[in-house]
Amino acid sequence: MGNYRSARLVWDSKIEEMQQPISSIQAIQRMTVNPIFENQGYYEQLEVPVLGDEKIENIFYYGDNYDLLNYIVKAEPEKKIDLIYIDPPYMTELDYHSSISIGAYSDIKYIKRTAFQDRWPRGLDSYLDMMYTRLQLMKKVLSNEGSIFVHVDWHVSHYLRVLLDEIFGPDNFINEIAWCFGGGSSSRRYFHRKHDLILWYARSPEYIYNPQYRPYTQGTIKRGLTNVKGDRYKLHEEGALMQDWWVDINKILSPTAYENLKFPTQKPKELLARLIAAASRPGSLVADFFAGSGTLAEVCNEMGRNWVLADASSLALQTSCYRLIRSRSKPFKIIGANNGEDAPGCELVLKQPLLKPVDDNHTLVDLGIDFYWPAQLPAQGDRRDFADYIEFWEIDLDFQEHIFNSHYQVLRNKQRFKEPIALDLLIRLESGQDIKIAIKVWDVWANQTISVIPIKT
Ligand SMILES: C[S@@+](CC[C@H](N)C(=O)[O-])C[C@H]1O[C@@H](n2cnc3c(N)ncnc32)[C@H](O)[C@@H]1O
Repeated sequence: MGNYRSARLVWDSKIEEMQQPISSIQAIQRMTVNPIFENQGYYEQLEVPVLGDEKIENIFYYGDNYDLLNYIVKAEPEKKIDLIYIDPPYMTELDYHSSISIGAYSDIKYIKRTAFQDRWPRGLDSYLDMMYTRLQLMKKVLSNEGSIFVHVDWHVSHYLRVLLDEIFGPDNFINEIAWCFGGGSSSRRYFHRKHDLILWYARSPEYIYNPQYRPYTQGTIKRGLTNVKGDRYKLHEEGALMQDWWVDINKILSPTAYENLKFPTQKPKELLARLIAAASRPGSLVADFFAGSGTLAEVCNEMGRNWVLADASSLALQTSCYRLIRSRSKPFKIIGANNGEDAPGCELVLKQPLLKPVDDNHTLVDLGIDFYWPAQLPAQGDRRDFADYIEFWEIDLDFQEHIFNSHYQVLRNKQRFKEPIALDLLIRLESGQDIKIAIKVWDVWANQTISVIPIKT
């Protein structure tokens, strides 16, 4: 195929290449993951963990992904990504919510949280403006062996195919994967729409590909290949080479599944694991610039890849953090355009810490939360079950103002919203220090609130 093609998608507001100055990016939080679950007891004696000096590769950018991409291209051109997976909005013109019920005992409360909006003031034109500018930058951050998977559905897949051809070149198109799934649907006017498309483009012909296999069908196993095709054909131990249509991975349908984090549009880990296995290597840097619940990061941790996530939604940040804490993630950093605190009006009162020397060098510190109240609730509401509104909380044992170093994270164990959560902890610290202890509460609306208390051990 010749390289030159003039056919491309045109719309009124299309800008060939957007040039924006780099936005400033700050480190908001460093996370050493040490989850504490309620059933481990209220009074856990813990050593102060030491954050290794190793460079933390794993990053969550909280903000518009354009700013992060523009920053990487201009300020960190040496940073190269082997695999980008994105599952952007599909131009559905809908608002996405997450509905949960909370409450440890009989007083169950129903809560609806906004996850993100998929609405476009100028319709398709503004959607294409958003995707075109970002896809151009994504191409620039890919390594020479890199690939991009763009996960979409019937709403926009046809436009994005043409855009991707323009940006990556039609010769770098690799596959259009049809991900087929089940689940209910009520339409009586058309076939139920039960597949998404994952468009795969490579940065160059040197792209990484590790063949993936599927089990042979029962018929093939029974018959064997040799009988039909002759002596040269034998069944392979790994199975048959995989096609570009997948019917063996379902959506997360069960509301009670462990994997279900109640983030609308959340994708199953198994799907991402297949894509990551196919187009990256252990040690590769893998990115998802529309991260949602952070599925990609959890899978990367399990598969020995480093990761970069970005999302502009506070519920996406909170859900991803929860997922990564629960799964005992490698250390990661949260960075963003502001300091990350965006919860005016929430009230957090800490316990006055109790200190007790345990030996010549150590002091036991009893610390925790006395009261928390979210901005979303009327001040005169029933304040007795305030702890129901806390999703998890974190402790920084030596707060340095400019960055929150999360040393421990306290969360419920199995029932994410429906068990009591521990509200205090006993921690053993070195004696003779003047330090500030900070506690950060994340509530079920994804507000984050910090309160600081100085102590002398
Ligand atoms: C379909 S969801 C992704 C779901 C994800 N694949 C998962 O498994 O949970 C799309 C996400 O893109 C985010 N998003 C949309 N536009 C964005 C932008 N310009 N910058 C950063 N995030 C964005 C939304 O907040 C939303 O969380």
